[in-house]
Amino acid sequence: MNRLAGKSALITGAARGIGRHFAEAFVREGAKVAIGDIDIVRARQAVQEIGDGAIAVEMDVTSEASIDAAVNRVEGEFNGIDILINNAAIFTAAPIADITREDYNRAFDINVSGTLFTMQAVVRHMIARKRGGKIINMASQAGRRGEPLVAVYCATKAAVISLTQSAGLNLIPHGINVNAIAPGVVDGEHWDGVDAFFAKYENKKPGQKKQEVGEAVPFGRMGRAEDLAGMAIFLASKEADYIVAQTYNVDGGQWMS
Ligand SMILES: NC(=O)c1ccc[n+]([C@@H]2O[C@H](COP(=O)([O-])OP(=O)(O)OC[C@H]3O[C@@H](n4cnc5c(N)ncnc54)[C@H](O)[C@@H]3O)[C@@H](O)[C@H]2O)c1
Repeated sequence: MNRLAGKSALITGAARGIGRHFAEAFVREGAKVAIGDIDIVRARQAVQEIGDGAIAVEMDVTSEASIDAAVNRVEGEFNGIDILINNAAIFTAAPIADITREDYNRAFDINVSGTLFTMQAVVRHMIARKRGGKIINMASQAGRRGEPLVAVYCATKAAVISLTQSAGLNLIPHGINVNAIAPGVVDGEHWDGVDAFFAKYENKKPGQKKQEVGEAVPFGRMGRAEDLAGMAIFLASKEADYIVAQTYNVDGGQWMS
C-alpha cells in the first residue's frame, strides 16, 4: 500500500480491461490517476467506480492535438505527470493475403504512433520539470515472435519493444525510466474479440480458442489483469530506478527471454 503516494499517472486506454485495473491498483497505492480513453463514457463510469483519486480524460492517441489537450489538462489538474502507461491498443488479425492497408494503418496509428507521440508529449513536460518520471509501454508476447494470422498486431508490438529500448536509452539521462510489460494471454473484452476472430478463421466454437490458449499456458490458465498490476506498480515505483529500456514478460511462463 502507498507505494505510489504523491505520484500522478496518466494511463491511456484505461476505460476497460488491463488499463482500468491498473488505474484502480494505482489509486489503491496512493497515486492520482487520469484515465485517458477515446471511450469517455466508459472512462467516466470507471472513475465513478474507482472513486476519489481518478479522473476521466477524453483522448484519441492517433491525434496529436487530442494528446496535447489531454496531457495539458492532466498536467494542470495533477501539477505534473510522474507516470505514463501507454496502454491503449487495438487487436487486428487476418491472413497475409487479406490484410488491408486501412487495418494496417489503424493498428500502427494507435499501437505504435500513439505510444510514441503520447510519450513525446509527456516527456517534454518531464524534462522541463527536471524531476524524472516513469514510462511503461504495454507490449505483448505477440511482439516477441510472429503468428500466422496476426502479422500486423505482432509487428506493432515488436515496434513497441523497440521504441521502449531507444526511448529508454535516450531518456535515462533525464531520470526518466522507460520500460515495457509483455503480457501473454489476458482474459477480458479484448480476448473476447480475439476468440471471435479465431472462431471465424480456424472454424472453432465460441470460447474454444480461449480454452485452448489458457490450457497451453504453463501456469495453467489465462492471465488476469490483476496478474499484471504488481509489475506495473513496481516499474512505476522508486524500486525500479535502475531498470532501463527493458521489456518484462508477465505471461505465466509462456516466453523466456
Ligand atoms: N488482453 C490481452 O491478452 C493482452 C495481451 C498482451 C498485450 N495486451 C496489451 O495490453 C494493453 C491493454 O489490453 P486490454 O486487453 O486491456 O485491451 P482492451 O481492448 O480491453 O482496452 C483497450 C482500451 O484502449 C482504448 N482505445 C482504443 N483506441 C484508442 C485511441 N485511439 N485512443 C485512446 N484510447 C483508445 C479502448 O477504448 C479501450 O478502453 C494493450 O496494449 C494490449 O495490446 C493485451
